[in-house]
Amino acid sequence: MPEEKRMELEPIGIVRTEAFGKEVRARGHSSEVVLSKDLTGALDGLDDFSHIFVIFWMHKIYEPKRRTIKVNPRGRRDLPLVGIFATRTPYHPNPIGLTLVELLGVEDNVLTVLGLDAFDGTPVLDIKPFDHWDMVDNVQVPDWWKRLEKERSERGQTSLSGPAGRSKKQGTVEN
Ligand SMILES: C[S@@+](CC[C@H](N)C(=O)[O-])C[C@H]1O[C@@H](n2cnc3c(N)ncnc32)[C@H](O)[C@@H]1O
Repeated sequence: MPEEKRMELEPIGIVRTEAFGKEVRARGHSSEVVLSKDLTGALDGLDDFSHIFVIFWMHKIYEPKRRTIKVNPRGRRDLPLVGIFATRTPYHPNPIGLTLVELLGVEDNVLTVLGLDAFDGTPVLDIKPFDHWDMVDNVQVPDWWKRLEKERSERGQTSLSGPAGRSKKQGTVEN
């Protein structure tokens, strides 16, 4: 175990969205990330990026769920039981959300983003730009993930957002 047992994190802002419950999973919905006013200057230059990572704290997770060790992805019994670290379940010991979103605009301390799967009122911990360092060519994923992806594409949903470069229009991002 690491020596440091506890860490203090301070939210830098909050998510604002009209999407409710499962609606936050819909990639076409927009949200606002409202940062503390005193961080407005820290956003200078961010607008030149088309996509950003939003890191947030899933504050509504029922505490005992943070001790989960294995899950069936998406709660589906027809998919294999795997360790939580092999999934995007919110039931991690630290319920940190990491979502790649399309940045639609920056105005003062408010970012408008597309595809943020966080509830209204979610505390935001950090923002980072997405760039080519995060791109990889040979991605390996398990069969259960491929199966989910196939089902998604059959429903007409795509997993990646638009063309490279700034589109400033609606696209989809899937985690
Ligand atoms: C599966 S998690 C994935 C989050 C992020 N994309 C990631 O991979 O880390 C996203 C789900 O967590 C739930 N969620 C979002 N915000 C939350 C919050 N503040 N508290 C608890 N659950 C939340 C919603 O059900 C949402 O669909």
